[in-house]
This record gives sequence, C-alpha cells and structure tokens, in this order.
Amino acid sequence: MPSLKFLLLLITVCITDAASVHTDDHRWIAPSATDERSPCPGLNILANHGYLPRNGKDISIPMIIDAAKEGFNLAPDTVVLAAKLGLLSNSTATTTLNLEALKLHGLIESDASLSRGDFALGDNLHFNETIFSTLANANPGVDYYNITSAGQVMHERLAISLATNPNVTNTPKEIVLRSGTSAFYLMLMGDAFTGVAPKKFVQIFFREERLPIAEGWKRSNVSLNGTTMEALSVAIQAASKWTATQECETLVLAPTV
Ligand code: HEM
Ligand SMILES: *[C@@H]1O[C@H](CO)[C@@H](O)[C@H](O)[C@H]1NC(C)=O
Ligand SMILES: *[C@@H]1O[C@H](CO)[C@@H](O)[C@H](O)[C@H]1NC(C)=O
Ligand SMILES: *[C@@H]1O[C@H](CO)[C@@H](O)[C@H](O)[C@H]1NC(C)=O
Ligand SMILES: *[C@@H]1O[C@H](CO)[C@@H](O)[C@H](O)[C@H]1NC(C)=O
Ligand SMILES: *[C@@H]1O[C@H](CO)[C@@H](O)[C@H](O)[C@H]1NC(C)=O
Ligand SMILES: *[C@@H]1O[C@H](CO)[C@@H](O)[C@H](O)[C@H]1NC(C)=O
Repeated sequence: MPSLKFLLLLITVCITDAASVHTDDHRWIAPSATDERSPCPGLNILANHGYLPRNGKDISIPMIIDAAKEGFNLAPDTVVLAAKLGLLSNSTATTTLNLEALKLHGLIESDASLSRGDFALGDNLHFNETIFSTLANANPGVDYYNITSAGQVMHERLAISLATNPNVTNTPKEIVLRSGTSAFYLMLMGDAFTGVAPKKFVQIFFREERLPIAEGWKRSNVSLNGTTMEALSVAIQAASKWTATQECETLVLAPTV
C-alpha cells in the first residue's frame, strides 16, 4: 500500500501536471502551417519555445503569467493588463484566447508598430522587414539600442504612418502601448535598468521570434516587474517626443484599492 504521504504527493503532481500545459521541451520550433501566431513577438516567442501552447490556441491568463515568468522572468504585473484586454479579442464566453485574434485593430493592435504594417495598409499580423528596417538601422555606429534610439524609432515610425496611412489612429492610448512594447524589447533583450540592449539579440527577437540563447542571451536573474518596466517606458516616451494627433475615450478602469 502506498503511504498517505506518497498518495498526496502523487495527487499534487497530477494536479500540477494537469494545470500546466507547458512541456519541458523549450527548444525553438518554427510554427507549423496550422499553428496560430499573433502580432506580438513576445507571445510568439513564448509559443515557439513551448512556454505557451505551440498551436497558439486556448491560452488562458494564468498560462500567459506562467509563460512570461518562465521564458523572460517577467512578474505578473507586466503582462496581466494586456492579457485581460486580449480576452476581448473573442466575443464568446471563453476565458481563453487564440493568438491570431489579437490582430483585432484598436483592441491592443495599433498603428505605427515596430515590425508590422498598419491595419488600413494591409497586413497588421506578420513580421515585415521593410517596417522593421527603421528599428534595425537605428543607433548607427554602435552595436546596441538604447532609450534614445528606441524613442527615435517610435518617432520615425509614427511619421511614416502619418504620411502614408490616411486612416491612422494616434491617440494617447497608442502612445502608451507603443512605449510599453518598446520597453519590452529593451528590458528583455538587454539591461532592464539601463535600457541598453545588444542589436543582435533584439533583431533575433523580432526577425526569428526566438530567444537568442545560442548567441549568448540569458534570461534575467531578477524578476522584472511593472515598476521597472514603467520607468523604462516613461523614459522612452519622453525620448520619442510623440504627440497624439487625435483624442481617445479614456479607458474605464476599476479604482485602485
Ligand atoms: C510576454 C511578454 C510580452 C512581450 C515581451 C511582448 C512584446 C511585444 C512587442 C515588442 C511588441 C511590439 C511589436 C511591434 O511593434 O511590431 C508587442 C506588440 C503586441 N503585443 Fe505583446 N508582449 C508581451 C505580452 C503581451 C500580452 C500578454 C498580450 C495580450 C494578450 C500582447 C499583445 C500584443 C499585441 C496585440 C501587439 C500588437 C501591437 C501593435 O500593433 O504593435 N503582448 N508585444
Ligand atoms: C473564440 O472562442 C471559441 C470558443 O473557444 C472558439 O471556437 C473560436 O474559434 C474563438 N474565435 C477566435 C477568433 O479566436
Ligand atoms: C479606420 O479607422 C477606424 C478608427 O480606428 C477603424 O474603426 C476602421 O476600422 C479603420 N478602417 C480601415 C480600413 O482601416
Ligand atoms: C511590408 O511593408 C511595406 C511598407 O508598408 C509594404 O510596401 C509591403 O507591401 C509589405 N510587405 C508585405 C509582404 O506585406
Ligand atoms: C544611446 O546611444 C547613443 C549612441 O552611442 C548615444 O549617443 C546616446 O547618448 C545613448 N543614449 C543614452 C540614454 O545613453
Ligand atoms: C544578476 O546578473 C548580473 C549581471 O547580469 C549580476 O551583476 C548580478 O550580480 C546577478 N544577481 C544575482 C542575484 O544573481
Ligand atoms: C520591482 O523591481 C525592483 C528592481 O528589481 C525592486 O527594487 C522592487 O522592489 C520591485 N517592486 C515590487 C513591487 O516587487
């Protein structure tokens, strides 16, 4: 007879296994033709490495929180608001999301992205090297990107959208999203506190949607939280000298308790 202690251990292991979808195989594997991917390189990387389901489907908020922790050492407060918003990409009563649905324009997806085209101009889902060239070519003469260059890239990408997209959306909401996503690539591929990130790592992050482990990248050894991210985001936004060209309805959020 197994002891009660052993039985409890077994039950715990079973429950843990059932609750966590991730496999132990975190090699990078390119998505298959039926796997879904999103306009978000961060979530796509987590799926390509098996921290999120590789098929990109039926993803819950706890799964996103766990994957962000395991893949990037991100604390929940850096992803949970976006994850909650993401659930609205599906109009049914489901509490999970599918990656491709995140291309829904105006929910989180917005114009003047770093690596995707504007919705009104065609493809707002897939990586586009022409769009990405602004970031790729930034901070010439050195082998890193930083807060200054990230701000300049945001400024240039917006100028391109304003000049080429007659239906561009550029409100304070977009500015906050843009600064946040720029903070993500600097903080995860480089030093979260100085915002200096090797170009090589950032380019692999966007172009291949892969963790540049073979090239020497390491997951942060400290938990990266919303406070750290916010500091970087605010600095990038200031460096971008962005101004909204439209107003938005303020998001209604629950009061802080
Ligand atoms: C896990 C950590 C995450 C990282 C590292 C990350 C990183 C990024 C980056 C760098 C971009 C900018 C792409 C571009 O401008 O071309 C982006 C965009 C985006 N992210 Fe994430 N993200 C994360 C989590 C999330 C979550 C939780 C959601 C929602 C469920 C989300 C949804 C999106 C969407 C919809 C876009 C497209 C926005 C646009 O149009 O530019 N991301 N993300
Ligand atoms: C929305 O969720 C339902 C139920 O899980 C699923 O069948 C459907 O494919 C989802 N739609 C999108 C656009 O992800
Ligand atoms: C134009 O912008 C509005 C407001 O964001 C949006 O609702 C609409 O879908 C856009 N149309 C196209 C073709 O981009
Ligand atoms: C990439 O973006 C450029 C600039 O907007 C556009 O001309 C081109 O058609 C896009 N490429 C693809 C494959 O969508
Ligand atoms: C970013 O790098 C450039 C090029 O080395 C430099 O001129 C600039 O001062 C740096 N910005 C910050 C905030 O360190
Ligand atoms: C984390 O890594 C940095 C270098 O990237 C190092 O300076 C620091 O001591 C490490 N901290 C811990 C807690 O291991
Ligand atoms: C967030 O991270 C910073 C830097 O590692 C740390 O000093 C701070 O205590 C953290 N804040 C919270 C609320 O965990």
